Amino acid sequence: MHILITGGAGFIGSHVVRHFVNRYPDYRITNLDALTYAGNLENLRDIASKPNYRFVKADITDAGAIHELFEEGRFDGVIHLAAESHVDRSISNPTEFVMTNVVGTVNLLNAARAAWNGAYEGKLFYHISTDEVYGTLEQGTGIFTEETPYDPHSPYSASKASSDHFVRAYYDTYGLPAVISNCSNNYGSYQFPEKLIPLFINNIRNRKPLPVYGKGENVRDWLWVVDHASAIDVIYHNAKHGETYNIGGHNEWKNIDLIRLLCSIMDRKLGRKEGESAELITYVTDRAGHDLRYAIDSGKLQRELGWTPSLQFEEGLEKTVDWYLENPEWLERVTSGTYQHYYEEQYRGR
Ligand code: NAD
Ligand code: TYD
Repeated sequence: MHILITGGAGFIGSHVVRHFVNRYPDYRITNLDALTYAGNLENLRDIASKPNYRFVKADITDAGAIHELFEEGRFDGVIHLAAESHVDRSISNPTEFVMTNVVGTVNLLNAARAAWNGAYEGKLFYHISTDEVYGTLEQGTGIFTEETPYDPHSPYSASKASSDHFVRAYYDTYGLPAVISNCSNNYGSYQFPEKLIPLFINNIRNRKPLPVYGKGENVRDWLWVVDHASAIDVIYHNAKHGETYNIGGHNEWKNIDLIRLLCSIMDRKLGRKEGESAELITYVTDRAGHDLRYAIDSGKLQRELGWTPSLQFEEGLEKTVDWYLENPEWLERVTSGTYQHYYEEQYRGR
């Protein structure tokens, strides 16, 4: 079994690569990543020299390079995570999101279709998507199911919705074996400190302001990234082709409540007096088009494929804080930009 994982140098992708490389020593795992600002091969230091793993630097917007890789790689499956993933960046540069998330996904679909050429037995194209495609919910009412109509609002979620539609279109039109999962907000180790939790951990460490958008009333549904990786494993191996599965931990938090909990955990771990970190909270102008609430029903995945999350949020958040505090050099290399030289240092001349 040879699986191509795209975006494996990113946050979730690195956890998925690690999970598959360690759990399935008989599989070959190729990690394709363009190493944008969000890609960091240092995330995979611990498995980089395993015999069943290799890294290929390539850009999914480069159709020619992707076709060549599929010809050479003879992949049985694709787990596609490569994407531009940050909503704020999508607001300032939507075109980049269309290029990677839409055009890049179509390039991969075309390459898989050409390489498999109708011989679909044992093949699977698995697209990793987000619950943000479903739009936004009112406070306290409703929950996203697989039947919720798509209603994306940000350029990020519009690009992910579009790529989901293309994956479905290739299943319906060409019979390309495909599956999609839509997951809620992830948190955990190796997350780029532009997203809420690692950004705020880093700012608290450095006693910098914590920019809370609007009134901090928006609700997100948080899942530990390691549990997302285990759900992806379960879906990859057991899903009915053509289906969609929602992934989440039934764990809704209002931003301001989560931030206050994080501040109090950090006070305790850093030996600061209770309430010191919360003084860093600064209310700033709201994000344009800010979705009020996400909440996901993962009942189908639990019922049909037997997956359940392993960690409660409070425990997961403690573990996550511990990881960032135990790995200050990771945060420092990422925030200073030094991490971007790692590929050249390690792979030069190979
Ligand atoms: P990330 O930004 O941390 O990582 C994205 C990775 O894709 C990076 O390694 C980057 O180098 C790579 N990449 C970007 N453009 C590329 C291109 N043109 N060619 C090849 N590689 C490219 O993102 P993440 O948070 O790990 O998210 C991974 C996937 O999961 C995305 O598809 C995202 O939409 C989805 N998702 C994320 C969340 C979340 O909470 N972070 C939740 C649900 C779904
Ligand atoms: P984020 O981690 O960017 O994920 P997403 O927008 O995909 O849900 O943001 C999570 C929530 O935190 C979201 O409601 C926006 C809010 N937020 C802030 O209040 N301040 C910040 O600096 C960031 C990055 C996010």
